[in-house]
Amino acid sequence: MSNIKVLYLFVTSICNAKCHFCFYGEELNKKEDLTFDELEQFSKNLGRINSLMISGGEPFTRKDLHKVVTLFHKNNKIKYVSIPTNGSLVERSLKQIKEICSNKDLFVRIQISLDDFAKEHDEIRKVPDGFKKAIDLISKIKILKKTYPNLSVSVSSVLSSFNKDTAVDFSKYVNDLNVDDHNVEIERPTLGTISEDDSELSKWSNNAWREQMTTIVNIFKSVVNLNIQRYSLNNHEKKYRLGFIGPLLREIMVKLQFKIKNNLILEGKKWPISCVAGKKSLVIDHNGTFRACEMRSAIGNIKNYDFNFKNIYESAEYKNELETIRKVQCWKNCTHGCNIGLSIQYNKLSFLIVLKEALKTILSRIKFIFLKKYDGLG
Ligand SMILES: C[S@@+](CC[C@H](N)C(=O)[O-])C[C@H]1O[C@@H](n2cnc3c(N)ncnc32)[C@H](O)[C@@H]1O
Ligand code: SF4
Ligand code: SF4
Repeated sequence: MSNIKVLYLFVTSICNAKCHFCFYGEELNKKEDLTFDELEQFSKNLGRINSLMISGGEPFTRKDLHKVVTLFHKNNKIKYVSIPTNGSLVERSLKQIKEICSNKDLFVRIQISLDDFAKEHDEIRKVPDGFKKAIDLISKIKILKKTYPNLSVSVSSVLSSFNKDTAVDFSKYVNDLNVDDHNVEIERPTLGTISEDDSELSKWSNNAWREQMTTIVNIFKSVVNLNIQRYSLNNHEKKYRLGFIGPLLREIMVKLQFKIKNNLILEGKKWPISCVAGKKSLVIDHNGTFRACEMRSAIGNIKNYDFNFKNIYESAEYKNELETIRKVQCWKNCTHGCNIGLSIQYNKLSFLIVLKEALKTILSRIKFIFLKKYDGLG
């Protein structure tokens, strides 16, 4: 029915942490979460989608999280769900993860948020022993993976001025945790920063910001290089000797994402393709407010559209927002990693840039086989 491939669903506003950089900070602990019945009405009307990207608040504070995920698996045939978590609610999370993984044809990725070493991480998140608990959750999920082959665990880190000095060492530490991936996202502005046009975003990403970000981008480059070595190249060596296409595609995506952010921050170049947020994805906040992407302002509330995606998609408000995005081209100032990835995947014009990067990556790999030297990001 719809063209939507990815649904970003903020399942709750409740959170036990207080991260100063949280883009959802002003929405937290409002107790207005959509009920299971409301989500069921929306899911029934949505049609097929590929992926459900959970967010919040702390998703595992929601007791029926497993039921919500199973609902979208049953009604919308999702193949992939990602659940970010601060990792502090260990036993409750494990119980729900098992329930979610019992949907055997659903690929489940648990993303544990860790931004720095223990002392600093706990100071940032303000959850007592939060780091220790998150590490405990990672170890326990690694054991669970033996029972559930559809389960994977990764670490997500926000990179900004607060952790720039430790980020490379911390990335090495994460590599040694032996998780399935490490995603690093440069800090973004708060929810709904962009209203009509992109003037707010332009203010955020002005020249002073660019100057300050130069150091961060260089650190980001080292982190991404490490990430490629560990999760694409070595995985290819050890696990994917025959099936190398998966890690190769992953590497191409990681490199393209890096290059787009790098060119934007250092040289002020917009993305080489337009953003597909709103066309291929939808964001629903905990209370039913919906928007094209987390950075843009709210369009309406699903409650006022009979929980029916068709009503939303065909509404003048929604069409107007897609048209505004097209006109203001907010991708000239935006570093939203998920939507860069989504746009590379679904924008028809990506084909050429993917092909170019694929050829470069294959060449690097051939060099690696013969010279045992790897270019990474070059
Ligand atoms: C909003 S949180 C919700 C899930 C959970 N509470 C957590 O922290 O993992 C989702 C992810 O966004 C990241 N995040 C929060 N604020 C951010 C910002 N300003 N820029 C980029 N990522 C951010 C978090 O670290 C986390 O990995
Ligand atoms: S734990 Fe997640 S939702 Fe809570 S404040 Fe931190 S980033 Fe925001
Ligand atoms: S470029 Fe895409 S992700 Fe960034 S603000 Fe615009 S619509 Fe949102």
